[in-house]
Amino acid sequence: SSLLRSVKTLARPTTARAYSVDSVPSRKVTVLGAAGGIGQPLSLLMKLNPLVSQLALYDIGGTPGVAADVSHINSRSEVAGYMGDDQLGLALEGSDVVIIPAGVPRKPGMTRDDLFNINAGIVKSLCSAIAKYCPHAIVNMISNPVNSTVPIAAEVFKKAGIYDEKKLFGVTTLDVVRAKSFYAGKANVNVAEVNVPVVGGHAGVTILPLFSQATPKANLSQDDIQALTKRTQDGGTEVVEAKAGKGSATLSMAYAGAIFADACLKGLNGVPDVVECSYVQSTITELPFFASKVRLGKNGVEEVLGLGPLSDYEKEGLEKLKPELKSSIEKGIEFAKKN
Ligand code: NAD
Ligand code: LMR
Repeated sequence: SSLLRSVKTLARPTTARAYSVDSVPSRKVTVLGAAGGIGQPLSLLMKLNPLVSQLALYDIGGTPGVAADVSHINSRSEVAGYMGDDQLGLALEGSDVVIIPAGVPRKPGMTRDDLFNINAGIVKSLCSAIAKYCPHAIVNMISNPVNSTVPIAAEVFKKAGIYDEKKLFGVTTLDVVRAKSFYAGKANVNVAEVNVPVVGGHAGVTILPLFSQATPKANLSQDDIQALTKRTQDGGTEVVEAKAGKGSATLSMAYAGAIFADACLKGLNGVPDVVECSYVQSTITELPFFASKVRLGKNGVEEVLGLGPLSDYEKEGLEKLKPELKSSIEKGIEFAKKN
């Protein structure tokens, strides 16, 4: 909603007031994979965010065009496009937040894990560059399978001696966005007021929406809760099938990615009580990485919040997701150690 407010503000004609951002700190945001299906609309939304002063758009191709296009928008940030290995360092240097939607998307019939073989290598090489050029940046990992790509990033950063668990985030905001939309529809409440935590991971049954904690409260039947849970878990597949071979969620993901990056920037700027769900290094279960509510601050993760009270159905879901999430984490760690 604050993003929408900023969008509205920026849509006004250019006036001195629209540029009076002196009290807002300078922040560089880099998008890796900026010419892709997610990358382009995400770059647009980051250009509309008044917390960004420099926007660096990197991809293996196509970024000069995307950057030229986006740069004409009359909002605060200066935009630059970077293309190819040679320019990756420049794109990353001085970055406060690096958003990674680089990698291949699913086609119908594939699981997110089927993307591992290609995306693991992409993520590993991009994270090596982050370790070299902006080791203190906050990293927002979008590339799938998130359950494995985040552990890969952690290992790469450990090897480089710069790992800070407070700065590495798997972006699971789209699960929250979906849970909110689906819940509002079923419960017939104002979608703008809805909150639903989603915990676990970001694939199939590892996505665990906690509808027992959803607000505003609604008296949904157990059948309704189960249907909502399944639809949230299969939300990505719903889009993959509807796009019929032309990729996966891009527009809703760009929206979700922009919300999450905005929360990271607010945290960095010292805004109090910024809480979002994210897949982070965690001790709230026995698994080393887990998505839950996280309080964001000047150093990234300020506090990983607990799960809160769970219904019996959610407790069951939690136990069911652990083996899959554990093996996806181990697969990522193994890959990073071997390669
Ligand atoms: P896409 O194919 O449209 O775009 C990917 C972009 O990455 C392309 O422009 C490509 O050139 C670029 N790329 C590839 N290798 C690169 C490298 N080494 N460096 C920089 N850029 C590189 O795909 P998309 O639809 O934008 O999806 C991207 C990823 O995001 C996929 O892995 C997808 O599964 C994932 N995704 C995650 C979520 C989530 O909720 N976390 C949601 C949707 C999609
Ligand atoms: C999503 O949830 O939409 C993404 O993870 C993309 C996918 O493959 O489903």
